[in-house]
Amino acid sequence: MVYEATATAPVNIACIKYWGKRDTKLILPTNSSLSVTLDQDHLRSTTTSRADESFEKGDRLWLNGKEEVVKPDGRLGVCIKELRNWRSVEEEKDSSLPKLSQWPLRIASYNNFPTAAGLASSASGLAALVASLARLYQLPQNASQLSLIARQGSGSACRSLFGGFVAWREGEKSDGSDSLAEEIEPQSHWPEMHAIICVVSDAKKGTSSTSGMQRTVETSTLLKERLKIVPERMKLISKAIKDKNFEEFAKITMKDSNSFHSVCLDTFPPIFYLNDVSKSIISVIEELNKSNGKIIAAYTFDAGPNAVIYSLKENIPKVLGAINKFFPTSEESKDPFKLTPVDLPENFDYKVVREGGWEKGSVKTLIHTRVGDGPRTLGKE
Ligand code: DP6
Repeated sequence: MVYEATATAPVNIACIKYWGKRDTKLILPTNSSLSVTLDQDHLRSTTTSRADESFEKGDRLWLNGKEEVVKPDGRLGVCIKELRNWRSVEEEKDSSLPKLSQWPLRIASYNNFPTAAGLASSASGLAALVASLARLYQLPQNASQLSLIARQGSGSACRSLFGGFVAWREGEKSDGSDSLAEEIEPQSHWPEMHAIICVVSDAKKGTSSTSGMQRTVETSTLLKERLKIVPERMKLISKAIKDKNFEEFAKITMKDSNSFHSVCLDTFPPIFYLNDVSKSIISVIEELNKSNGKIIAAYTFDAGPNAVIYSLKENIPKVLGAINKFFPTSEESKDPFKLTPVDLPENFDYKVVREGGWEKGSVKTLIHTRVGDGPRTLGKE
């Protein structure tokens, strides 16, 4: 008998960044973080898990068609073990359940966005893996509980178990049982929240998040200052989301991205994730906001040069106009919303942007998306 389940999970982009671990094995963060889940109609990871008594011993996993070794005590292995243990507890409680926990697994996962899109795929990938195994093992689909497991695969993955606006609470306990994700507001609360991803570079980043944040924890004195500010920012941005106050949301998002990249610079040796094009995108957004007389767009950058720009749907044509004007895209960009970019306002100061260095590069692709829902599952016996 073969049991099979499939799940899809979305990408999330943090507005308050997770950067630093207090426990590297359990993946417990030094601060809480908050993200927006992006629409999986556009960007998603899909994972199918299969359990069969007759499979040869040992679990096997394929990522985008390529087999990866599953190390039992590696991050993936730990997630699988946790879910298997949970299933075996259920099997002990109910002896009529087939002993799926004892059967080997075959797992296949793929992303519908190319790795070349420069987006971190570990968050959506691990969330999809956890959601599909939870479905296969018929475990309660409690997203916060599942987030405790996804967190051990990759910290940011715990936030991809929810749609909408999501907080990852740092927690206090040393066993990590209170370091979980929870929904601040669902997708339906603020569906006008859109995002444009500017793919500046699709090269694999020089310093991975995992090693970069560890180096920051070990060497940065500025990180201690950052950790004092984050709790207040978490409160303020949660309120801004509840009140649908875009200007406040945007201001905190930009400040926190800047703060995160500052601690990267304060790391020794320093870590540079932003390049000249990234910095120019910051200038374009600054100038766009100024010429509109209010904040209509917010930039944020993860551990790489690609920008994510949050803006309300009504203002997206202006953001697209500004980005297109300064950064000719070298690849065809698809806009599922088919919005027409509008020209820049008369009072847009080109000089300021040019000084940011925009002549030195271009944007490869633009991906236009919006806030989306959490994992979707499909099971079959
Ligand atoms: C800059 O979740 O990739 O994107 O827990 O070591 O797997 P590990 O790190 P990861 O770090 C993400 C860092 C970030 C900020 C964020 O998503 O909050």
